[in-house]
Amino acid sequence: MVGGDAAGGFSTLVRMSRLAAAIRMNREAHVENHGVLLTERLRLQPMHRGDLDALHALVVQPGVRRYLFDERILSREETDRMLAASTRQHVASGIGLWGIRTHGSARLVGFVCLWPFAHEYAPGEADAAPQNELGFALDADFHERGYATEACRALIAYARERLGWDRIRASTDLCNNAATRVLWRLRFAETLIVRGRVGPLRLFELVF
Ligand SMILES: CC(C)(COP(=O)(O)OP(=O)(O)OC[C@H]1O[C@@H](n2cnc3c(N)ncnc32)[C@H](O)[C@@H]1OP(=O)(O)O)[C@@H](O)C(=O)NCCC(=O)NCCS
Repeated sequence: MVGGDAAGGFSTLVRMSRLAAAIRMNREAHVENHGVLLTERLRLQPMHRGDLDALHALVVQPGVRRYLFDERILSREETDRMLAASTRQHVASGIGLWGIRTHGSARLVGFVCLWPFAHEYAPGEADAAPQNELGFALDADFHERGYATEACRALIAYARERLGWDRIRASTDLCNNAATRVLWRLRFAETLIVRGRVGPLRLFELVF
């Protein structure tokens, strides 16, 4: 009986200290995981200055610069400014660039972003204010595995649930079939074709 009480007291103590440890871990996890989104295969983390080399290597890849930067090869300084802008936006409004990595690997697979892209939003509309859109790009070594679709899905859920958006926009060059297939898979609807800087742009929208 006494032994039973003692054992009961001990196991209660063990349970309580486990609970305290779990609460502590959760608090730390919350702090550590701030802005980090996890999917079955991927870890999306807000990008920071330490990502400069990896991001720069990605944005100058021919397939990426063709569709995201109108063929322009960004300088390291421009990539650095993009990262600084991302950090500012993450702090101010929870949007920016997220680096994509597979679980357990440090190699950058690509990025997804919620980003104020500037282009025409209606035919003939000049100097429209930039609107936040979903954007994405993968290192060519990681195409055709569903990573872009999986990462975008997580970011869309974040925009809906954490930012409270009621819709999300995206756009691609008319000839960008791979990006268009990603957006179709995510159930975006095509809304309009407008004039882009180097050719027609397809505008898309997903209403929640
Ligand atoms: C746009 C881009 C990210 C698309 O890459 P992607 O590899 O085709 O897209 P995903 O990672 O979602 O992979 C989907 C493909 O993998 C295949 N796949 C293989 N395994 C899969 C899995 N487990 N789950 C889902 N799809 C899988 C799919 O069939 C699909 O191929 P399909 O489109 O021919 O049917 C890539 O082409 C890119 O980085 N382009 C340059 C930048 C760019 O254009 N960005 C868009 C500007 S808005």
